[in-house]
Amino acid sequence: MNTKSDTASEPAIESAPVGNFILTDSSTGESWELPARTGAMGNRLIDIKTLYGQTGILTYDPGFTSTASCKSDITFIDGNKGVLLHRGYSIEELAAKSDYMETCYLLLYGELPTPEQKTSFDSDIKSHTLLHEQLSRFYSGFMRSAHPMAIMVGVVGALSAFYHDSIDITDVEQRQLAAHRLIAKMPTIGAYAYKYSLGMPFPMPRNEYSYSENLLQMMFSNPAEDYEINPVLSRAIDRILILHADHEQNASTSTVRLAGSSGANPYACIASGIASLWGPAHGGANEAVLKMLDEIGTVDQVGKYIKKAQDKNDSFRLMGFGHRVYKSYDPRATVMRETCHEVLQVLDVNDPKLELAMELERIALEDPYFIEKKLYPNVDFYSGIILKAMGFPTSMFTVMFAIGRTVGWISHWKEMLNDDEQKIGRPRQLYLGEQQRSFIPLDKRGHTEKKTSWPWFWGK
Ligand code: ACO
Repeated sequence: MNTKSDTASEPAIESAPVGNFILTDSSTGESWELPARTGAMGNRLIDIKTLYGQTGILTYDPGFTSTASCKSDITFIDGNKGVLLHRGYSIEELAAKSDYMETCYLLLYGELPTPEQKTSFDSDIKSHTLLHEQLSRFYSGFMRSAHPMAIMVGVVGALSAFYHDSIDITDVEQRQLAAHRLIAKMPTIGAYAYKYSLGMPFPMPRNEYSYSENLLQMMFSNPAEDYEINPVLSRAIDRILILHADHEQNASTSTVRLAGSSGANPYACIASGIASLWGPAHGGANEAVLKMLDEIGTVDQVGKYIKKAQDKNDSFRLMGFGHRVYKSYDPRATVMRETCHEVLQVLDVNDPKLELAMELERIALEDPYFIEKKLYPNVDFYSGIILKAMGFPTSMFTVMFAIGRTVGWISHWKEMLNDDEQKIGRPRQLYLGEQQRSFIPLDKRGHTEKKTSWPWFWGK
């Protein structure tokens, strides 16, 4: 495939200093000026790059709630207004008018493809969908009961042991090869994790199918029968992939950037993103939504669980609700909700879980606790219900997310490598441990116990 370079078009706007902030130390009266910056859209920010060098002072921001860790021109989110744009195009428009391959091209190269570019990109991706035979045999080292995300982390990480021709991150051609390979092979790797758990043979990817059709075919075909693609279902898969394709500097993308900042190879970086995505506070939430609906059981129990979610002494949270950035309806959830109804209609599914989910959504949206904290359903709330109706086992939900998000991870990884301000990611800390002390010999030590507080999701 011919692309001028692996970088996107020039940024629409250069981030320029716009005034200063004055930082004053009230204990000494000392002041420093820090430049204010604006991007093309969004919040103003304080540029603290030189703060430590100038003053020896660090900033403290657990969970990076107030920190922009990089420059980017890939995705823009306005969490208060519920806006999500990829390269300037709204997610609603992309979901309605585009397809996943086109969205991948847009994220990777900064512009929608021309018809020739689209054909060439599609065919290049199709040329990389097969897995190396030895890599297919790799699966037999896993337990049949292994979680498919565990298999994904292992197999994607292992790609670097198979494709030595694309791990030199300084070579633009190799970067592009790795990018296309990863996008192409993720559905195959994911579907094989499922087939392996069933003890079924691995189906071959087929070039007559689109990306999403192929994914369905590899997941659900049976070698003894013909497989017929349902266009509503393949369109739903395509939408799910588009809606998950990128989401700015979320936990897994930041993990990929951090891993990549040390110069790690692309396959290792994407494996680290998959590992981060697996957590229930991130991509694992779609699986957790279904488990939660199982736990709630019936519509008459919803009130009880809404109360549990509000109880500070109870670790229960409403899975699929809330978002670090969206303090309004997640625009992806709106599209996903629509798709959810389409799929259920086509499949003629009358799932009591959907009724339960709708009641949960209705009550939560009217409840003062959720209104005050701006907790709305997020994309994972509906994606799990759609995937379940289509026959995906719960354990595959986060795999689907990982397949869709791979292009976002790679686009950010490439952008990071092309950023001249890029440095190895190395946060600092607020140290609260012991000050220097003398070593105590073993026979002189008494028993000591330290109290530890665990995050909510570890308390479950
Ligand atoms: N149910 C009940 N209460 C909640 C929920 C929830 N789902 N989410 C947040 N809250 C409450 C918190 O208890 C906290 O209350 P407090 O201010 O009284 O202490 C307040 O809302 C803020 O919550 P934080 O955890 O501080 O918000 P944060 O931005 O760090 O977390 C997160 C966002 C992790 C998504 C959170 O809302 C959550 O855990 N949701 C459930 C898991 C989920 O659906 N994750 C998917 C995220 S979307 C994605 O990855 C595609």
